[in-house]
Amino acid sequence: MVPPPTILASRGDLRRTVQRLGAELSQAYPSGVVLISVLKGSLLFLADLCREITSPVTVDFLSISSYAPGTGRVRIVKDLDLDISGRDVVLVEDIVDTGLTLGFLLSELRRREPASLEVCALTDKAARRILPTHISFRGFEVPDVFVIGYGLDFAGRYRNLDLVAGGSLEVLTTNPDAYVPHLYGITTRD
Ligand code: IMP
Repeated sequence: MVPPPTILASRGDLRRTVQRLGAELSQAYPSGVVLISVLKGSLLFLADLCREITSPVTVDFLSISSYAPGTGRVRIVKDLDLDISGRDVVLVEDIVDTGLTLGFLLSELRRREPASLEVCALTDKAARRILPTHISFRGFEVPDVFVIGYGLDFAGRYRNLDLVAGGSLEVLTTNPDAYVPHLYGITTRD
């Protein structure tokens, strides 16, 4: 028997978190902001977040690929369409784990000379941080477990869940569908 995953955020928790972050961003950028989303994990978060921001928003997308997982050595496989020089930019992330990917992305984006560059992350797995990272707009901290749902995947699964759950990487590696019976068809309490 596979131990069930833990629900870390219900649908209601996610709504409240995204509303709070939207209000913080609206206040910080009254004349508008460029949101950059790193595909594909932050897609659901970005879609909900940008609708909670009451000032003008432009969105753009980046896609990256790891040379070697866990090393932070990544390359951009789909670059931005926008020129961000002189713009107020917020990088929207699903999760900050070791911080190595974020470190790479921030140094890459800084070279393009935005007027400002900040980070908005839905989840923060702070216990695993290797590269200290300042997250200006932070959703909630998650424990050192493998996090799935609301955009976060394992082998492409679980992205469409309207909740965030934590499970065992070992369990998922053995069977990527291990948590499907636990997580689909349930309703989390708001
Ligand atoms: P980093 O360790 O902070 O460089 O994280 C790199 C990337 O790995 C994140 O942007 C996620 O795409 C992915 N990742 C890290 N931890 C998790 C997790 O618990 N669940 C799903 N994806 C993760």
